[in-house]
Amino acid sequence: MEKSNIVLIGFMGVGKTSIGKKLADIYQREFIDTDREIEKLTGMTVSQIFARHGEIRFRSEENLIVTKVAARSNCVISTGGGAVIDPENIKALQANGILICLTADPQVIQERVSKRGGRPLLQKDRSIERIVQLLKEREPFYAEADFTVDTTHLSQEETIERIRVFLEERGFSCGNPAC
Ligand code: S3P
Repeated sequence: MEKSNIVLIGFMGVGKTSIGKKLADIYQREFIDTDREIEKLTGMTVSQIFARHGEIRFRSEENLIVTKVAARSNCVISTGGGAVIDPENIKALQANGILICLTADPQVIQERVSKRGGRPLLQKDRSIERIVQLLKEREPFYAEADFTVDTTHLSQEETIERIRVFLEERGFSCGNPAC
């Protein structure tokens, strides 16, 4: 089967959700954010799940949601930063999706996550050292992507343009006459 989902992976604060929403508009596809789906399913925010039940419970809810949404077709799926650490999740996402990883320099990530909270893993320690350490641990998982865009010096429009060019090479046609 041809892969039909566009899947955004990458660290917290790299812009997966905002870029994903715009891609969904351009490609006229349904947008799914795995964190929002987890929140809908559990009736708790991501922060509440971490605070009340811990990370292991969050990862288990995440696994349920990721494997479920990965089986859908023609969607743009934005994943939480740690979703790809579970090999079952990455396998499911790859089965029917092109994986695009967004990255950014640690300084830029720090600025972006400081502007918008709700990141339990960076709540206590948002230092560059902590971000660098987590990025390093996750490097092999993010390297599973089919295409990576470093957004450090790019506007959202430029990031989207790079993704669009890549997807066109992969035969993804844009349903929107404006692009
Ligand atoms: C996490 C990233 C978050 C959210 C949770 C854990 C992570 O999503 O899933 O707080 O492990 O990197 P964003 O990447 O959308 O911030």
